[in-house]
This record gives sequence, C-alpha cells and structure tokens, in this order.
Amino acid sequence: MTDLHPDDSATRPTTGWSTLHRHHLGVDIGGTMTKYAVVDTATGTPTTPVLQVPTPAPATPEAVGDVLTVLVEQLHSHPQAPAPDASVGVALPAIIRRGIACSAANIDAAWIGLHVEQFLTDRLGRPVHVLNDADAAGLAEVRYGAGRGTAGRPVAGTVLVITLGTGIGSALFMDGKLVPNLELGHLELDGTKAETQASAVAREREGLDWPAYTGRLQQYFSHLEFLISPDLIIVGGGISARHEHFLPHLHLDTRIVPAQLRNAAGIIGAARHAYLSAPSLQ
Ligand code: BGC
Repeated sequence: MTDLHPDDSATRPTTGWSTLHRHHLGVDIGGTMTKYAVVDTATGTPTTPVLQVPTPAPATPEAVGDVLTVLVEQLHSHPQAPAPDASVGVALPAIIRRGIACSAANIDAAWIGLHVEQFLTDRLGRPVHVLNDADAAGLAEVRYGAGRGTAGRPVAGTVLVITLGTGIGSALFMDGKLVPNLELGHLELDGTKAETQASAVAREREGLDWPAYTGRLQQYFSHLEFLISPDLIIVGGGISARHEHFLPHLHLDTRIVPAQLRNAAGIIGAARHAYLSAPSLQ
C-alpha cells in the first residue's frame, strides 16, 4: 500500500516513494492504558476503531513488549492491517534520544537507558519508531488538528502544545518542525514542579474547583508565554474536552485553543512519526 501525501511536498524525496506506506499502526503507551489503531497518515484518520488494553503493571519493557506482540499478531488478520513491513509508531511517556529512553514517567524505570526502538523492533519483527507521548500528540495536532493553518499546512511560527493529564507534557514546533523532548511540565512553579500543581490529575487529587484550577493554569501559561513567546498554544489531554471551564478565563496575549484530536492524538502522532521515519524520507 503506497501513496503520496499531497501536502508533504516539502519533504518529498526524489526516489524511494515505492517503499513508503500510508497506513501505520500507532500505539500510545500510558501509565494505565495502552491505546492503538491503524492510522491513514495521509488524512490522520484511524482506519480501525481506537482500541485500548491495560498497560501491564509494572510496565517493564518485557511486559509491554509482550502486549505489543499480541496486538500486532491480532491485527495481522484484520482487513485494515498495515503492510507487514510498514513501521509501527510508539509513543512513550519518556524522553527519547536517538531511540533510547532517557526518562520514564508512570512506566517502569527499566526503560531508562534502553534502546527502545531496537528492543521493540526485535520483539515485533518489524521496524518500530518511538517518540515522546506529548511530541506525538503535538505532531498530530499540527498536521491534522488545531495547529493546521491555511491549505492544511502547520501554523507558521512557534506553536506550543501542552497536554494536561497525569503529568504535563509539552511539544514545541517551529513552522511545523518539532523540537523534540521539551519537558516543560517539569518547570518549577513556587518551588514545586508545574505538573505536580497544574496537571489534570493534580486538580482531581486536590479536589480543585474550576476557578482554583484556572488560577494555577494562569500562572503556568503566563510563565510559558514569557519564556517562549509562542504564536499559538494548543491544550490537549483528556481534560481539554472540558476546555470551556478554563480556557476562556485565561488572560494571555497568545491565542490558546483546545486540541482537536483528543485521546487519539498520541496514536495518530505515533503513526505520523512512523511514516516520517521511513528511510526514504530521511
Ligand atoms: C513526562 C513527559 C511526558 C508527560 C506526559 C511527564 O511527566 O516527563 O515525558 O510527556 O509526563 O505523559
């Protein structure tokens, strides 16, 4: 299954298109659930239902590798199965440098130092490309969601994507190009990590009402705005479905909008990363 992406002409290689695949399995490994779907990367649409299974506890590389092996085997006979040599995109709550995990948030510490891409490629018997979960969500939003500008191209300038979930994830784009592994959830606010105070889970843990939570977000986003001067801020994570409770009450000079792809963003972005990592696009 091969196809050109009509609006990827900037990265279009002169040779090698015949090896490109359009449909990739995208997997988003979270602290509690692992979500996955086959994604049409030309449109950013899942072509199978978005499914989820519990992330094993403890979420060691071996245990997660077992789960992914079963998923890939199950998909094999599905009518929408990607080509056997189509790479798999995997989003992890970890800093990923050249395929190696350098941190581990809400997954087992055994990931740290592991060459995740090599490990999962060996386990699944097909190429695997790995990236940080917030980077994946951001990739999806700038290409197919709230960060699309005119003619479907990413919004020009600096776009900051912040995901509010168990932690706070962040992704930064310059003219649609990802600056990977930004860890802005770990910025300090009043002597503690921002994600300890302003994640969606912090709101639940402390029983904060919307005005109190909005106050924390105001402090956080004002700080980010001062540090980065973005042209657009996109707010994702499950809580973004309830954006009307907080986004309209934030006072910023920067336009701030809810993410559009919600819970599927990580999966879609992981599949997009798999597509972009094809050797012929490097
Ligand atoms: C981690 C990030 C991750 C974010 C969202 C943070 O605690 O440090 O790597 O992207 O949580 O899962």
